[in-house]
Amino acid sequence: MKVASEFFANSDVFFGKDAIKELPGMLKSYQAKNVMVLHGGSVKRAGIADIVLEEAKKAGVELTVFDGVIPDPTNEIVEKTAELARKEKIDVFVAVGGGSCIDLAKAVNVLMTNPEPVRQYGGIGMVKKPVLPLIAIPTTAGTSSEVTNVVALNDTEAVCKYVIIDNKLTPDKVIADPEFTRTMPPSVTAATGMDAITHAVESYISNMATPLTEYHSLKGFQIFYENLPKAVADGADMVAREQMMLGCIIAGFGFSNANLGLVHGIAHTLSAHFHLAHGAANAAVLPYVMEYNAQSCPKKMVELAQAVNLPLSGDIDEDKLLLPKALLSLTKALKIKTLSEHGIEEKNLGILAEGVLKEPVLGFNPRQGVTKEDVLSILRKAM
Ligand SMILES: NC(=O)c1ccc[n+]([C@@H]2O[C@H](COP(=O)([O-])OP(=O)(O)OC[C@H]3O[C@@H](n4cnc5c(N)ncnc54)[C@H](O)[C@@H]3O)[C@@H](O)[C@H]2O)c1
Ligand SMILES: [Fe+2]
Repeated sequence: MKVASEFFANSDVFFGKDAIKELPGMLKSYQAKNVMVLHGGSVKRAGIADIVLEEAKKAGVELTVFDGVIPDPTNEIVEKTAELARKEKIDVFVAVGGGSCIDLAKAVNVLMTNPEPVRQYGGIGMVKKPVLPLIAIPTTAGTSSEVTNVVALNDTEAVCKYVIIDNKLTPDKVIADPEFTRTMPPSVTAATGMDAITHAVESYISNMATPLTEYHSLKGFQIFYENLPKAVADGADMVAREQMMLGCIIAGFGFSNANLGLVHGIAHTLSAHFHLAHGAANAAVLPYVMEYNAQSCPKKMVELAQAVNLPLSGDIDEDKLLLPKALLSLTKALKIKTLSEHGIEEKNLGILAEGVLKEPVLGFNPRQGVTKEDVLSILRKAM
């Protein structure tokens, strides 16, 4: 028997149409006085921020709006926003947006009860004091940040993305209305959805996976594989949108506990150096990393292929490579850009490979002993 493992989930999820109507009651239940609502420009233009603010006002609270959320939040923006939140004596946070917005709110929340700088909390379980209530309202279907214990931040000085993993950071309440993802353009739907697929498959083969996490990862993968092409082809396909959002909640419980692997290590380095959107960076390298990993977890590669009905031959050496091939076809069908289409050149690959080797997430990857040559070979295939 294996030694005991933890499976942590701490989410109160309101899922479906008009779930936002729950917001005033939630704020009242916290006896909130000063509430900060965080969002970015696209969410404002989509009309979503106004819907949320309208509901928040019904709770009779003082509202502070931070509308400057940017993709891939930096340490600087976290610390600047935390200063405002402390000045306004914020007691509850409401994050309305994609992973960038929810992660920003989680990190700001850390600094309400724990001292700056935020960088010191990088790693697992480094946050000392409990944080304030956070209500997450996702508007993308990709990161699962609404249910995870993870924050990804951009360290512009060290030129890397790093993660804070701490169970205290999991949002207390989630308002997940698929309608809020309707306005995502096809390229954002594709990139964020490929991030979701990456979470599902990377966590399934992670060396931290347990039966409880595998259950969530596999189910999430099936849902994404079927519905992502539909959501990209027709953004108004609300059945596909709903399934994508549901899949993120399911898969989020999986990877929040099983962690990720080499795909995310490469994606974080690409985003830190070349500002690729997180999902686009994952998608560009995912098929090649899965091909690289296949020899270390052939049985699981076959299980993933089987879960989405790929035609198995019965020969494990052949079948373990079905999934990487299918993922490559999927990325082509979704018009995912290659690394050279993102402007990355052969001369950039060395510094990228060196950055990837410093990524702590490699510790969870099923294939260990990753070398600079290995990473270079993956990056070249992804050009
Ligand atoms: N915390 C976690 O568990 C976790 C997991 C994976 C990734 N991440 C992090 O999340 C960030 C990426 O988040 P993301 O992929 O959700 O993208 P994002 O939040 O950066 O949003 C991408 C773009 O889409 C826009 N947008 C968002 N919702 C929209 C809508 N409904 N309509 C129109 N436009 C919309 C945003 O304004 C932005 O310009 C990265 O920093 C990544 O590292 C976090
Ligand atoms: Fe991700």
